[in-house]
Amino acid sequence: MAEPTPSPIVGALNRDVGRYHRWSTPSILQHQERVVDFYASDVSISAGFFGTLVDHTGVFGEAERFAADAQGADRTMFSVHGTSGSNWIVLRMLALERSDALVLVARNIHHSVTNGLKAFGLDFRFLPTPYEPRFEALLPPSVDEILEGLRRYPEALAVIYTSPTYEGLAANTKAISEAVHEASDHAIVVVDEAWGGHLRFHPDLPLSAMTAGADVSVQSTHKLAGGLQQTGLIHWQEARVDSELMEEAYREYVTTSPSYHLLASADAAVRTLAAEGAGALDTAIRRTRELKDELRRLLPDLDLLDDPVWLAEIADHAAGVDLVKTTLGLARYELSGYDIAEALVERQIVIEKAGVNTITLITTFQLASNAVEETVRALVELLGPRVRPGGARREPPRNPFRAIDDRPVMHPYAARRHAKSIGREVPLQEAVGSVAAESVEVYPPGVPLILEGFRVSEDAVAFLLAARDEGGSIVARDTSLATLRVL
Ligand SMILES: Cc1ncc(COP(=O)(O)O)c(C=O)c1O
Repeated sequence: MAEPTPSPIVGALNRDVGRYHRWSTPSILQHQERVVDFYASDVSISAGFFGTLVDHTGVFGEAERFAADAQGADRTMFSVHGTSGSNWIVLRMLALERSDALVLVARNIHHSVTNGLKAFGLDFRFLPTPYEPRFEALLPPSVDEILEGLRRYPEALAVIYTSPTYEGLAANTKAISEAVHEASDHAIVVVDEAWGGHLRFHPDLPLSAMTAGADVSVQSTHKLAGGLQQTGLIHWQEARVDSELMEEAYREYVTTSPSYHLLASADAAVRTLAAEGAGALDTAIRRTRELKDELRRLLPDLDLLDDPVWLAEIADHAAGVDLVKTTLGLARYELSGYDIAEALVERQIVIEKAGVNTITLITTFQLASNAVEETVRALVELLGPRVRPGGARREPPRNPFRAIDDRPVMHPYAARRHAKSIGREVPLQEAVGSVAAESVEVYPPGVPLILEGFRVSEDAVAFLLAARDEGGSIVARDTSLATLRVL
């Protein structure tokens, strides 16, 4: 009998992962309760003695109630589709409430939100697009920007934004929630808190969305909150959110074969955070501080996102920063973020995100005790000799998000439908000013730069070409960026 050929995936997981310092998701709480034998205990919904996930019964109901309590929500449901799936569920809930609903969205929303808006035919308007080129970072919306949006569109059913952002900036959700609830008797505040599952468990971190008064928040438990990949939580307060519609949207979306191992991991992670999260986060925050102090000392030409002077300037947009993230601007060095990420991998170090001019590192729970020292040494080796003459800054890219108007020329769904009949493919540079019939993004961060139904901006095209040339990963039909479909 022939032996099965070895799986390259199994091989890579068993052999390679442990060799790297991982400043990247998932951040796994090491001491969480674990399922003993993954393979012996894999079961399905047929094992009805467990209760049912979509009915919120049995062990699942128990886990949901604990998570809601721990995170300060009235209700919580578990996701095994990450925050991407949770965003679809929340948008579907809005569409079930009103099929022609209009929502106000910050430009920093993840593509799962844009895709959900498109899929459910929801109408949407973008809030303004504040951007900091030094960190290639969209800033969270300010209270005034949101109130102005609500003044122009009082019928808006929801305001949706990401906080904390990928780079680590937290919105002032407390002030935003108070202002929205005061200005509108129906609008809800939805926070994509994919990066904020840990916030509630350490007093020095920015307030979590639920603590700050938001109506809905969605979190990736695997990102910063200790659980296995794919795990997430959907939280809401019942005052403005119809729980029946949320549950219906959940039933429509969720797989009929959820992995109970993933659910167990999400549950165990929340329980671990609730019991000993402050200690685990203390360690992560201290190590992040050590990393930053050493980088400031040895590489003084780096820009650090938590520069207090800059943070004071953007106080209307950011109420705080995530203390387990390190975002560095590289404008005074000759290397791009992509160059550094690649060179670090050769030194067995993986970082979370690279851009043309930036890198972001996450101080994960699983980092070894020598990770800070070895990573600082590697960065000094790479960057030390590559300061630009006189420390001169590279020209910052212009805001690639800005020129997209707050409203589409036509709904993205219609733009895509018309693409086949009246659309044409043109060289990307010639697409500037035309209405796009497809979307293009750099991943990470996964925020579309070109979006169907909107006009293509010169700055977005310039940014995409620079990202491609420097080694960024383009997500599009034509990843070479030779052509774009326009109307
Ligand atoms: C803001 C934001 N929302 C949602 C997601 C998707 O989360 P998940 O990977 O858990 O599906 C991401 C992923 O990076 C994100 O950055």
